[in-house]
Amino acid sequence: MSQVQPLSAMKNGFDAERVRRDFPILEEALPSGQRLVYLDNAATTQKPAAVLDASDAYYRHANANVHRAIHTLSQRATAQYEGARDKAAAFLGAASRDEIVYTSGTTDGINLVAQCFARPRLSPGDEILLTELEHHSNIVPWQMIAEITGAKVVVVPIGDDGSVSLADFKAHLSSKTVIAAFAHISNSLGTVLPVADMIEAAHAAGATTLIDGAQAVAHAKVDVQALDADFYVMSAHKLFGPTGFGVLYGKKTLLEDMPPYQGGGDMIEQVSFAGTTYNDVPYKFEAGTPNIAGAAALGAAIDYVSQFDMGEVFAHEHELLTRATEAMQAIDGLRIVGTAPGKAGIISFVMDGVHAHDIGTLLDESGIAIRTGHHCAMPVMERFQVAATARVSFGLYNTDADVDALIAGLESIQRIFG
Ligand code: ALA
Repeated sequence: MSQVQPLSAMKNGFDAERVRRDFPILEEALPSGQRLVYLDNAATTQKPAAVLDASDAYYRHANANVHRAIHTLSQRATAQYEGARDKAAAFLGAASRDEIVYTSGTTDGINLVAQCFARPRLSPGDEILLTELEHHSNIVPWQMIAEITGAKVVVVPIGDDGSVSLADFKAHLSSKTVIAAFAHISNSLGTVLPVADMIEAAHAAGATTLIDGAQAVAHAKVDVQALDADFYVMSAHKLFGPTGFGVLYGKKTLLEDMPPYQGGGDMIEQVSFAGTTYNDVPYKFEAGTPNIAGAAALGAAIDYVSQFDMGEVFAHEHELLTRATEAMQAIDGLRIVGTAPGKAGIISFVMDGVHAHDIGTLLDESGIAIRTGHHCAMPVMERFQVAATARVSFGLYNTDADVDALIAGLESIQRIFG
């Protein structure tokens, strides 16, 4: 007998209830006895069984070092490690697999570009252009480089709704801008930045671009060639993959022109005490035994997510966002921080008389996981004059039932504190 799906789970043809069943942890028994409502996807996403299995299978059946031996296990390890590079290149729309550098995550990718691309090119008075809504990982590496080189960090302010205006961005570009680095989607506000137009404007001013795609890859289609991004960084764990692993996409000519980040095994061509020559890209940036299981699991995560139309995923999360936003706006004393048009499935909010951490603690008692705090975006908190916010962030396995549980939890908090 065929099972009838509830209409709410099938909107846009996207069956979130079915997707939810791919993620074992979402069935986790909580101390409260409640069903887990996981709404902290901007911090990290859960892993489908296919990703858990890939990691386990790698260690059970393929564990060996890559690129170093001809024995069977080493060949399997290398095939999985390099196979994931092909998948990442296709997933991001790269022109070549050589443009995919493995990193430990978004933060590592940004630091690599700051140290290897920007540092040798920056002189006193040069400018690094950021926006006010950046995550600390897209602020601090640039401040460090600015301090070393004498370059200046210039910041594009955000509007009252948390948006970044293209006109403002253009106004802050100058002939001194060497690199412009900005988020695709804000982790704290959900704002979707006009990245294609920003990249075009930056290029017109002669600047190179780095896009922080940490919050985008699991929620929208990314095509680095269509965007004409020079560098694009992402974390595997925000794409249903493992922690401690990620990808830096870079145009090949730029990567080839950069010195390596770290020295060690596998990144060399020839070593002698008279001098060393380096391997080709991307290997010259991958010193030492890498996170091979991480690559295997990222490959499985990309296979998993590739079964979906990312436009449908975005539409599904947008419906959850709309349902939650409308209900939250009806709660007395609740204020949403970040209301930019076209935003992604992230809602930051504050409630009168209740500290954000108390909201998080009380929701947790009902099995609802959200994040509270400054979200590694202290300048955003300062901009909106709040010490912290509570933040709900959706993923493709969230359902209307998750939103309804959230709203019931918030209404209960409002009744207690209101
Ligand atoms: N960057 C992650 C977040 O926004 C950790 O929660």
